Amino acid sequence: MTQRVLIAGAGLLGLGVARQLAASGCHVSLFDPRAPGVETSLVSAGMLAPHAELRHDEEDLLALGRASQALWPRWVEALVSESGVAIDVRMPGTLVVAYDGDEYAAARHHLDTLERQGLQVDHLDASDLRDLEPDLSPHLVGGGLIHGDGQVDNRALLDALRLRAEALGVTILSGIGLQSVEAVQGRVAGATDTAGDTHPCDAVVIAAGSWSRSIRLPDLPPLPVRPVRGQLLAFASVDRLGRRLRLERAVHAPSVYMALKADGTLLAGATMEERGHEREVNTGALFEHLREARRLLPQLDELPLRDIRIGFRPTSRDNRPLLGETEIAGLFCLTGHARNGVQQAPASIEIVAAAVLGQSLPAYAEPFSPKRFTTRAAR
Ligand code: GLY
Repeated sequence: MTQRVLIAGAGLLGLGVARQLAASGCHVSLFDPRAPGVETSLVSAGMLAPHAELRHDEEDLLALGRASQALWPRWVEALVSESGVAIDVRMPGTLVVAYDGDEYAAARHHLDTLERQGLQVDHLDASDLRDLEPDLSPHLVGGGLIHGDGQVDNRALLDALRLRAEALGVTILSGIGLQSVEAVQGRVAGATDTAGDTHPCDAVVIAAGSWSRSIRLPDLPPLPVRPVRGQLLAFASVDRLGRRLRLERAVHAPSVYMALKADGTLLAGATMEERGHEREVNTGALFEHLREARRLLPQLDELPLRDIRIGFRPTSRDNRPLLGETEIAGLFCLTGHARNGVQQAPASIEIVAAAVLGQSLPAYAEPFSPKRFTTRAAR
């Protein structure tokens, strides 16, 4: 029997799971209070760097990140051929860099840990760094190149996913969110949208990013997902004398990361701010951020600032995503990815699509079950 699935949130994850479920024969409707792909997925810098930012106690996240990294090439390839949209994806490695001995020792420790886990890492001194990326600060003392990391054009990706979802018959409702989910005897029966209309269904997927908390769930507490705001700066990469900035790889310094996108936009990401869903530019955070970006790439002084983009990282209480079914049968979560929503998208979508379709899940999905927050004992 065809499943009728409602999805809250038409960002990268909502569109991605809609595409997969529609391709598997489900009847899918996507609800978004704004429009598809205009919030955090669009603001992201598209970093595919599961290793660069990891903490040492996050082995479960590393397993999810690695599984997702392995899926990226064929996920994009399939999407390009299905949609006809060209999507730039590159895996030239990520540079982690340090300005002094303390930072270098910390970076070394991190890189050594990754190496022990089987990852290929090149340790670099200041002159290696200059050879690899000549436009980086001359004050860097060293760092490392983490192989296998990269970046994607997340904007093209969103276009491709939306086109493909539409072509598969997914209904996309812009300007209408999901407000509440209704259940009968512990099983999803329908959901009510922000216009007050109720839609019967077999399953609901909450993929509303940092707004997931505002959707009322039957017999469950609000999902513990808060927005951690980021201001991302977009610069032109050619200065007024026609000099083009060179930056082959994404670079992570202790307080900023920078990446040159295929269209020539230079991105400097991103502040971490606990300001709810505020949309005003915060001058203090912006000032600090610009200073760190300029420290890393001195040529920035001469590059036009084109845009200040604000996004809201959906961050759960334990910094891990919520993937899979809740204890309400037919109610699924695909949210809470914090800083890693784009990178973890292919694996997360695969997990949640499998859960909706009643298929078995990979072992690495287990720590991310939403039940860790929603069972009565955990509340
Ligand atoms: N993944 C980088 C960020 O969230 O800023």
